[in-house]
Amino acid sequence: MTRMRLTKEEEKMLCGEEGYAAKKSMEILVALGEIYNAEALVNVGSVQVAGVSYHNLGEAGLEFLKELARDGRVKVLTTLNPAGMDLKNWRALGITPEFAEKQNRVIDAFRRMGVIISCTCTPYLIGSLPRYGEHIAWSESSAVTFANSVIGAKTNREGGPSALAAALVGKTPCYGLHLEENRAPDVHVDVKVYLKTLSDWGALGWCIGRKAENKIPYITGVGKASLDDLKSFCASVVTYGAKPLFFIKGITPDSDRQQIPKEKVTIEDQHMKEAFDSINDEVETVDLVCIGCPHCSIREVARIAGLLHSRKVSSNTELWIATSRLVKQLADEIGYTRTIESAGGRFACDTCMAVAPLKGRFKSVATNSAKGCYYSRHNGMATRLGSLEDCINAAVTGKWS
Ligand code: F3S
Repeated sequence: MTRMRLTKEEEKMLCGEEGYAAKKSMEILVALGEIYNAEALVNVGSVQVAGVSYHNLGEAGLEFLKELARDGRVKVLTTLNPAGMDLKNWRALGITPEFAEKQNRVIDAFRRMGVIISCTCTPYLIGSLPRYGEHIAWSESSAVTFANSVIGAKTNREGGPSALAAALVGKTPCYGLHLEENRAPDVHVDVKVYLKTLSDWGALGWCIGRKAENKIPYITGVGKASLDDLKSFCASVVTYGAKPLFFIKGITPDSDRQQIPKEKVTIEDQHMKEAFDSINDEVETVDLVCIGCPHCSIREVARIAGLLHSRKVSSNTELWIATSRLVKQLADEIGYTRTIESAGGRFACDTCMAVAPLKGRFKSVATNSAKGCYYSRHNGMATRLGSLEDCINAAVTGKWS
């Protein structure tokens, strides 16, 4: 017996009348709802499933997916987070056939369940764009933060299994950030620094994440922000400690109707310096330059192509552009791909620097993503955070200067 209020249809699923996958999914959702005192399930408009890389899933995760794929079919628009490899171009990126075979089995299980094999952490750039106020169940942390903060949709940060369960049922337990009363800011962050590059936005995320640990920041002092700025900020602020929701006065939805919290912190130049000092290691030669954490928008790809025009990537360095396959297809059409690839850069579609099996392959990485640095350190690499221009220069010279 569950304490949650279930509809007849939900009870039938829980009893197994709609098959194994629906039953298993309902068990996951009800268990989660009970832990967090949800009163009921709520319909979701879309789902984004993380936990796609075989590198993280392993054999047990693959078995779990295969079981669900026997009779499970998603009920709402469901997209996938990056996988452990570029699904087409994996050989060129140094992935072994053994890994590719396992990764393809994972993808096959998702495909059989009706999941769109998008393999991106920016589903909002490729057609899964929730509307303001819509309940969704997304799992990748930067995408969750973007959906909550920039779009004004409502989602908790789902784990891979709970997101997939939500997709197979079309619902998620209504608790946490699905409830209006939990979406109020609790710390005022006044930003007194000038933000010029995406790496500055990443460093700001480091500063605010540290100061607003597990709180919802209300941010003032930021005059303007592009979609790419916000995308970068979403990735770092949640990686470094904040809840996956923030408000920026005058920029994000609902910011003008929030009460400014009493607790106040200020971000000044010294904090930004501290962020860069903490993220950066001593790096002279750069083995890998990776742009696209979160996955690149077409505007970022255009800038990369512009910076690489008539230049060549150093033979000592690899340059990876991580993006969705759909954005890459657009880049193919426009001609950016030709410019980037003839300069020696490579697209890493469907994957990213955190979920690809990179451990031991590269000693150092340069990137314009503060989140990318966090995960690269976990992969044993020395990290360097800089502007896109700095990173492309590093790719061309093979050095950080
Ligand atoms: Fe996306 Fe991977 Fe970065 S999932 S946010 S590119 S760590």
